[in-house]
Order: sequence, then C-alpha cells, then structure tokens
Amino acid sequence: MKPVKVGLLGLGTVGCGTVNVLLRNGEEIARRAGRQIQVSQASVRELDKRRNCPTDGIALTQDSTAIVSSPEIDVVVELIGGHDPARQLVLQAIAAGKHIVTANKALIAVHGNEIFRAAREKGVMVAFEAAVGGGIPIIKAIREGLSGNRIEWVAGIINGTGNFILTEMRDRGRSFDEVLADAQRLGYAEADPSFDVAGIDAAHKLTILASIAFGIPLQFEKTYTEGIADVTRADVKYAEELGYRIKHLGIARHAENGVELRVHPTLIPERRLIANVNGIMNAILIKGDALGPTMYYGAGAGADPTASAIVADLVDVVRTLTADPNNRVPHLAFHADALSDLKILSMEDVQTSYYLRMRVHDRPGVLAEIAQLLASQQISIEAVIQKEPAEGENVVPLIMLTHRVLEKNMNAALTQIETLESIQGKVVRLRMEHLDSDWK
Ligand code: NDP
Ligand code: HSE
Repeated sequence: MKPVKVGLLGLGTVGCGTVNVLLRNGEEIARRAGRQIQVSQASVRELDKRRNCPTDGIALTQDSTAIVSSPEIDVVVELIGGHDPARQLVLQAIAAGKHIVTANKALIAVHGNEIFRAAREKGVMVAFEAAVGGGIPIIKAIREGLSGNRIEWVAGIINGTGNFILTEMRDRGRSFDEVLADAQRLGYAEADPSFDVAGIDAAHKLTILASIAFGIPLQFEKTYTEGIADVTRADVKYAEELGYRIKHLGIARHAENGVELRVHPTLIPERRLIANVNGIMNAILIKGDALGPTMYYGAGAGADPTASAIVADLVDVVRTLTADPNNRVPHLAFHADALSDLKILSMEDVQTSYYLRMRVHDRPGVLAEIAQLLASQQISIEAVIQKEPAEGENVVPLIMLTHRVLEKNMNAALTQIETLESIQGKVVRLRMEHLDSDWK
C-alpha cells in the first residue's frame, strides 16, 4: 500500500522529535498503522538552521501554504505553535481536505470550537493528544477509556516547565531565572516562556481537559489563572512544616452549581502521589464516579515524549482514514450536538481551603483579632504556626490553614484583616486541596 504522506508545519523541538521517532520505530509503527507513515514536506522559518533530525527526503520550504494545499499530503501536522499563522494554516488545510494533528494547546483551547466545526463539515480528523500532558495519552484515556464514567473532577500538574522550576527551587535551592533558562535550553518552555510561568499554558490545557471530561465547549476565557512567580521559598518551607507540598495545579471540578476551572499554586498533602511528581514530569488525577480516582503520569514535555503522542495520533488517523466520519470518536469526547451549557463558576463562587501567611506584631490579642474576623466570614481554622521573632524584631510570620470556604468569604475576611493595625503588609494566600477520593 502507498505510504501516508505527512507535511510538518514546523521542524523545531517537537517537529524533529516526530521525524526521529518515525525513523527509529518506522517498521513497528507501520505494523500498527497498516501503512508506512512518511514525512515528505516540512515548513520552517529559516532554511539554513541546523536541525536535530535528518532532513534527507523531506522537502523543506518557508511556504507553509504550499504544504497545506499540496495534493501529495494526506495529513498536516501543525507544530509552529501560537495562534497565527497556525489557525489560518489549519483552517486552510481542513478546507483542502487534509487531516490535522497538532500539539498546539493555545490553538485548540482558543480556536478549537471553530476548527472542529470546520473539520466536521469536511469530514476530516483533528487530533491533539500532544496538546495536554506531553507524551501521556490523557486525551485518549478520558475520551475513550473513561467514557463509562461521570467525571467529577480533574486535577493535574500540566505544565512541565513550571513543575521543573518549583522542584529545582525546592530541592536544590536554585533561582527561578536560572531554572527557567535551563527549561528553555532543553526545549521544554513555550516560545514565550511567560505562558509557562504565568499559568497560561496550563490554562490552555485545563480548558481542553474540562471540555472532554464534562462535554462542554472550550471556554479558555473563563479559566481562572494564576502563575508561579509569587511562590516564595518561605512558603514552600512553611507548607512542608505543615505536611504539604506546593504544586502548580489545574483543577476542573463539576460542582453542584457549575464547573470550577482554575489554575493556581496549590498546597497538597505530601503523602499524595501527585505531590511527589517532580521536574518535567506531569501527572493528572481524575475522579470518575464508576472507577474512582486514577492517575496518569509521564513526561510532560520534550522532543521524544511529545513525538510519542504525535505519532500515536498519526497512527489513529491512518487507521480511520477509510472509516465513516460520523462514526469516529468525537473531538471533545461528546457528540457536538450533545455538548452541555453548564455554567463556569466565577472564582468568587469556588470553594477551597487556604494557606495564609501574614506578618503580625508579636503581642497579645493579635491572633484573637484575626480569628474573629475569619469567624465572621464562617471561616474555621485548621492549623496555626507562629514563628519566633528574629533578633531585635517584633514582627513575626503567622501561618494559618483554614477549612473549606467560598472564595468570596475569604476575600472579605482578608480585606478586613489587612486593615488591622497589628498586620504588616499584604496577606499571602495560597489555595489548598486534599484531593481525596471523597472530594465531590
Ligand atoms: P519550536 O519553537 O522548537 O519549533 C517551532 C517551529 O516552527 C520551528 O521549526 C520554526 O522554524 C517553525 N516556525 C515558526 N514560525 C513559522 C512560520 N511562520 N512558518 C513556518 N514555520 C514556522 O517549538 P516546539 O517544537 O517546542 O513547539 C511546537 C508546538 O508544540 C507548540 O504549539 C508547543 O506549545 C507544542 N508543544 C511543545 C512541547 C515541547 O516540549 N516543546 C510539548 C508539547 C507541546 P525555525 O526552526 O526555522 O525557527
Ligand atoms: N511548555 C510546555 C510545558 C510544553 O512546559 O509543559 C508541554 O506542553
């Protein structure tokens, strides 16, 4: 049988990883797919750049539109990243009847509804396993493996760069900027690394996970997003004293009154498996009503791990090339006309527990004042530690853990606490989740 011809848009970290994996494992991949898969064209910005993969047999061009309209190409793999020109190229490729594979989470999270509509009209596939969790087959696991479950929540470490930074800061005391530079050199970070640090990349991925978990349209703009830049060594240390680790989590929860979609640094009990996921590794915990909790762990970024997911998508596309388009696995797991309009909750309506750190004057009655203001908002305290004042100082760090409460109550309490004369500066607030199997 004729090989399936692939056109790559982009031949950087993931593009070259894909070429290498297809070359290295070509024979086995063909035995699985039923046909050879051959990269015959690739587009780049700079033709003369040194590549981390062989390019013999691949026609290199700077003209991506020539690839998306080439009659030779069956599948277009978009690995440029970002919104434009990726969006136009993917829509042009779909219009030309090409199947699409992409690792571009920004593209799917923000333009996915439009892209899937176009793909349905043309009867082509859009596969995006590599867009979430690097090489972990998490899209397939949720979309197919868990399709008998009502999914209650998803909580994951879904940005490798951020997890790498937090791990190196904690374990080796390295500085934020130094570790970020390493992540860039190793090809883990986004083209604009602020997407990793500010939580935008994780929010793209969470948007995708929530849609396929709950059967809702992609709604990136409603995802609450906080990054890791404000996590200090002091908070990491105090959290550990209290038995917690700080991880940058994406959480999507089907609550009674709507869906929580939030990305933020989170305290997790150190005994949880996910609290021990370090470096570039990702892990996604999913609670299904029938199966209970499951966890999916693996490399969240990097050339070969991401290529593993790209090639798996290529194999899926090849296997279903001749299948009736109406009987393929739906893009967002649920049929397009069966998506629900579940409300996405505002952050004020989210319920969680909190870690609070404040600097207080070391004198009698301060703790009682704070406790009273918390109690006035129905916030109960789970634990308190007060540190000794440093020599010659009378301001001390006070750390508190609270039980679950609505974020709006916490906002109101903190506004009042920050006006107290005994408090110095702003209160540091981190959210805390126990992620136990009873959480609904
Ligand atoms: P790179 O920056 O390494 O590669 C991007 C490639 O696109 C380069 O080859 C570049 O050309 C090419 N390119 C850029 N602009 C254009 C353009 N206008 N026309 C044609 N080619 C262009 O990115 P990655 O491989 O790291 O990422 C690709 C995608 O995969 C992104 O969406 C990213 O979010 C996603 N992803 C990345 C992971 C990773 O670990 N790196 C993991 C999971 C997903 P040139 O080389 O000449 O500059
Ligand atoms: N920049 C991303 C990360 C790449 O670090 O997780 C994988 O999506």
